[in-house]
Amino acid sequence: MKIIIYASQYGTTKQYADELSKRTGIEAMEYTDVTDINQYDTIVYLGPLYAGSVMGLKKTLNKIRKVQDKKLVVGTVGLADPDDKENREGIMNGIKEQVHGCIYNKARVHFLRGAIDYSNLNLKHKTMMAFIHRKVKGMKEEEKTAEIKTVIETYGKNVSYVDFDSLNPIIDEIE
Ligand SMILES: Cc1cc2nc3c(=O)[nH]c(=O)nc-3n(C[C@H](O)[C@H](O)[C@H](O)COP(=O)(O)O)c2cc1C
Repeated sequence: MKIIIYASQYGTTKQYADELSKRTGIEAMEYTDVTDINQYDTIVYLGPLYAGSVMGLKKTLNKIRKVQDKKLVVGTVGLADPDDKENREGIMNGIKEQVHGCIYNKARVHFLRGAIDYSNLNLKHKTMMAFIHRKVKGMKEEEKTAEIKTVIETYGKNVSYVDFDSLNPIIDEIE
């Protein structure tokens, strides 16, 4: 049995999960609603990046037993450019810290690009972003990573980089 599991604070990752579900016919379920992850043999986990961690990933995937018998696909959704190698390496390091080694080794990871609407952020997230922005805005151009550039470019705005075609490699893998 196949399942798409997702986490989403503001709805971007849910959009990707719903589209993936529509295109594959596989049910999409929020991670908090999963009761027994071990009943599935193909698991697609889509989660947004918050401060380098994939929301819900640790809590959800670390419950998998017999990892060797599963097909495991992870899609991260973040604002920073996933074509940037340093960004991708940072995301992979974050995943490595969150899940058991056998899960990390088994998972095929894809990088999707998200969205942000500052007028919709909760107070905690607004405060975090204001703090980061204040810290990085004066940095020299050559010191700025892709992540920092994105924070500066998008700060205070409503921006979407959602691209459903970036789901195609995930679809190829699970069908
Ligand atoms: C407080 C905060 C921290 C974030 N940290 C990251 C990050 O580390 N890397 C990244 O690429 N995007 C980061 N983002 C952007 C989110 O990943 C992006 O907005 C995503 O689309 C949110 O998905 P959701 O709408 O499903 O919650 C951050 C956003 C906020 C508000």
